[in-house]
Amino acid sequence: MFFAYPVKDRLKGKVCVITGAASGIGRACAIRYAAEGARVVAADISVKGGEATVAAIKASGGEAIFQHTDVCEPAQLDALLTRAIDAYGYVNVWHNNAFKSVFKTIIDQTLEEFDETMRVSLRAYWYGAKIAVTHMLSHNGGVILNTASVQSYFGEPGFSAYQCAKGAILSLTRSLGVDHAPGVRAVALAPGFIHTPAHDGIPPETIERVKQSIPASRGAAPEEVAALAAFLASDEADYITATGVIIDGGYLAM
Ligand SMILES: NC(=O)c1ccc[n+]([C@@H]2O[C@H](COP(=O)([O-])OP(=O)(O)OC[C@H]3O[C@@H](n4cnc5c(N)ncnc54)[C@H](O)[C@@H]3O)[C@@H](O)[C@H]2O)c1
Repeated sequence: MFFAYPVKDRLKGKVCVITGAASGIGRACAIRYAAEGARVVAADISVKGGEATVAAIKASGGEAIFQHTDVCEPAQLDALLTRAIDAYGYVNVWHNNAFKSVFKTIIDQTLEEFDETMRVSLRAYWYGAKIAVTHMLSHNGGVILNTASVQSYFGEPGFSAYQCAKGAILSLTRSLGVDHAPGVRAVALAPGFIHTPAHDGIPPETIERVKQSIPASRGAAPEEVAALAAFLASDEADYITATGVIIDGGYLAM
């Protein structure tokens, strides 16, 4: 059981945009950001899930809006930034988190699946960072968070296109952090095995194999990733940039 201890007002005055906010890690981060005092712009291709995230935030007394966004469309990411600025004046945390992929080896993976993985899980991160950094540099700076993965660091069988995207996200993060310090920080969150609907497409034998190799002997709740994300988004993490932070129950150490 995971206990959440949101730090009151740690993100007060922050405006946080997060993609993939309708489910899993994105929803948990949106809720946590709001619980720590941020105003949140939750973006997702799923209207139902995105609105449910915003409803959960409002029910707890937080402030949030939903913007329907297909992150594959740059114009919709432009509209997301504009909506956030129109609603709240500025953006100082932009969290690229949306994800879609089919997990296969390169033999079985189609070019179409590869292209879609790259559009959602890499190209959109790059374009989101591009417009957010440009905005932040003229508005007192900010933070780009990119949800990466333990697969940014090592190989796991059966994740060809996904692993390409996650490796590149860590490189993108380093590049952003190096190019735009000190005004903008960039940090990749690298989760291990987190219980979300993303696992629906993974064969049960793969899930079992992964679970057995985690020293913590369990997968994590999305809220555990959100607790880390809130710290990384905050000014307390001001010296953390151009790097990844791993949250994996010790998986990578095995
Ligand atoms: N769950 C894990 O074990 C795990 C491990 C490592 C990394 N991650 C990463 O965490 C992030 C969140 O994954 P999750 O596990 O919460 O998955 P999830 O499937 O629960 O959530 C993904 C969200 O992305 C949204 N999305 C998909 N395509 C979109 C599009 N074109 N435009 C906008 N939104 C879109 C979905 O609607 C969904 O709400 C991903 O980047 C994933 O790679 C997850």
